[in-house]
Amino acid sequence: MADFIIEGGYKLAGELPVAGAKNLALKAIAAALLSPETMKLANMPEIEDVKRQLEILTRLGATISRQDKGVYEINTKAVQSGSMPRELVNKLRASTVLTGPLLARFGEVELSHPGGCKIGRRPIDLFLRGFQALGAQVKEVPGKAYQLHAKRLRGGRIIFPKVSVTGTETMMLAAVLANGKTELINAALEPEIIELANYLNANGAQIEGAGTTVITIEGVKEIGAGNFTMMPDRIETGTFIMLALATSSSLTISQCEPKHLAVPLAVWQDMGAEFKINETSIIVTKASGLRSADIKTHEYPGFVTDLQSSMTVLLTQATGHSLVHETIFEGRLFFTDVLNQMGAEITLCDPHRVIIQGPTPLEGRTIEAPDARAGLALLTAALAAKGKSTIKNIYPIDRGYECLEQRLVGIGARIQRV
Ligand code: UD1
Repeated sequence: MADFIIEGGYKLAGELPVAGAKNLALKAIAAALLSPETMKLANMPEIEDVKRQLEILTRLGATISRQDKGVYEINTKAVQSGSMPRELVNKLRASTVLTGPLLARFGEVELSHPGGCKIGRRPIDLFLRGFQALGAQVKEVPGKAYQLHAKRLRGGRIIFPKVSVTGTETMMLAAVLANGKTELINAALEPEIIELANYLNANGAQIEGAGTTVITIEGVKEIGAGNFTMMPDRIETGTFIMLALATSSSLTISQCEPKHLAVPLAVWQDMGAEFKINETSIIVTKASGLRSADIKTHEYPGFVTDLQSSMTVLLTQATGHSLVHETIFEGRLFFTDVLNQMGAEITLCDPHRVIIQGPTPLEGRTIEAPDARAGLALLTAALAAKGKSTIKNIYPIDRGYECLEQRLVGIGARIQRV
């Protein structure tokens, strides 16, 4: 497995364009299963998770051709069953979203505890409840998997006791071809869900309310397919901003949608950072002398959990005590012991909360990337730290970020893949 070697402590400068949104790309691929027509996807991030999701479709019998960088054509007409290869499903949590269209189309699918980043328990109860509400029979099979059957899904009322992004998207995809009307109550509000609904509606689906807490889907017999261009990745955007702030650098983050980061931008401004915000770019104009902040992760539009790890790194460089409260996942703060080895002063109060005393100079170390987001946070720490760091086993970073070292070298980072 590859490692990154980083020489930290240098300022960065220049422009970083943002790639297409990973968390939309993975669901867009699932949407291809709903129609026999050819779907054309553009601005797809060329990352490991997207490759794995495409591989699952190929193994199911879909035809996929890469037309250009980030441009794919998918046709799923020849797919004959919903039986997904378990070894691939086990690598990728977002493969769960494929179960919605597969169950709708073939009347059966297996749902197992899928793999992915190790950031907490990540159960599947909401999916089972949702499919049952759409009329599916659930049978438990040995090996912690569930066999789901439904001749034709029927519309139903799905109440999410907890807000779930992939849960909302999976049920929305399943309900598009169900018989009758489905209501998703306490749906997630993420912008990726609106994009997915807009694509489906443009091709014949009848979805209303995406982006609100109640989504209504009137089932249709069939839908078509068309062009789908991925929006910019808001997590990558925020991560790059914090890379600038943690290294006191003035960077331009381009090809992004600043409106998707309203809350984090307000938090960084309260800390003393300054930005010039344009329609599709953010210029970091003041990155030093930052003050501490208390943050609590929240579903969209709150402070997104996927930016929490980089924020925790950034707060080690801000003056004062900060509190980080991770409300969504219970395993996302354990990487802070690595930051302490690098010189940070972070106290883990419980799995959901840390207190950070800043600013503390960081020193390079040999470290490991636990998951994509914490991996990027540790990379940010390594670039802010004095001296050499080695990040071992960078596969989790490659899962979520495209050609990262090439892009960072372009803004003056001293980073090498070995
Ligand atoms: C998605 C994102 C991920 C982000 C997360 C929260 C993708 C591919 N991934 O993950 O980057 O960090 O949203 O914004 O889009 N839960 C249950 N039962 C379930 C499903 C979830 O209890 O059946 C819980 C989870 O453990 C978690 C919470 O619900 O505590 C939210 O998780 P969810 O929104 O489902 O996360 P993902 O969709 O997996």
